[in-house]
Amino acid sequence: MEVYDAIKGRRSVRRFKKDPVEEEKVEALKEALRSAPSAGNLRMRRFYFVFNEEVKKRLSAAAFDQRFILEAPLVVVACADLRIADYYGKRGVELYAIQDCAVSVENMMLMAHSLGLGSVWVGAFAESEAARSLSLPEELRPVAIVPVGYPAAVPSAPKRGTAEEEVVTVR
Ligand SMILES: Cc1cc2nc3c(=O)[nH]c(=O)nc-3n(C[C@H](O)[C@H](O)[C@H](O)COP(=O)(O)O)c2cc1C
Repeated sequence: MEVYDAIKGRRSVRRFKKDPVEEEKVEALKEALRSAPSAGNLRMRRFYFVFNEEVKKRLSAAAFDQRFILEAPLVVVACADLRIADYYGKRGVELYAIQDCAVSVENMMLMAHSLGLGSVWVGAFAESEAARSLSLPEELRPVAIVPVGYPAAVPSAPKRGTAEEEVVTVR
């Protein structure tokens, strides 16, 4: 799939089939995460690939009962590694580490879409509960919960902002 088509065709998918994600596709998702840019190439990020039903239940509860987290065969949790990010001080901890996660997750979501998978970025969750679900070490801050699986339904494209609204051109 062309990059343009992946970018334009990706939707946030919140309904999943039960079919598992094949191992080679799981590996491709990991590859996409790891191929993203990273501040100073320090890779201040860690990704948890969750297949365990109990842990998924706890993540869904942490995300205020967003049920589709339970229904996805795979749930990826992106975490910022604040210990590594501290190399850049406050800016590293407060900004670069989050950006490292975000750019990786978008890479992964586009890869997922190109492989016929659906995903959605879940940002509404209680961080301490999510961290407890995975027994995260203190330096890892959970940034996004991303359920992944074969779509049972694909929503239509949401309204986008116009270029005039979102882009300022400076010549
Ligand atoms: C930072 C962030 C947080 C989000 N949190 C949630 C969430 O908690 N639950 C959810 O269902 N979707 C969440 N979304 C997905 C957005 O609702 C979705 O991207 C938006 O409606 C545009 O739709 P699209 O992704 O299909 O283009 C989040 C997206 C982002 C980028």
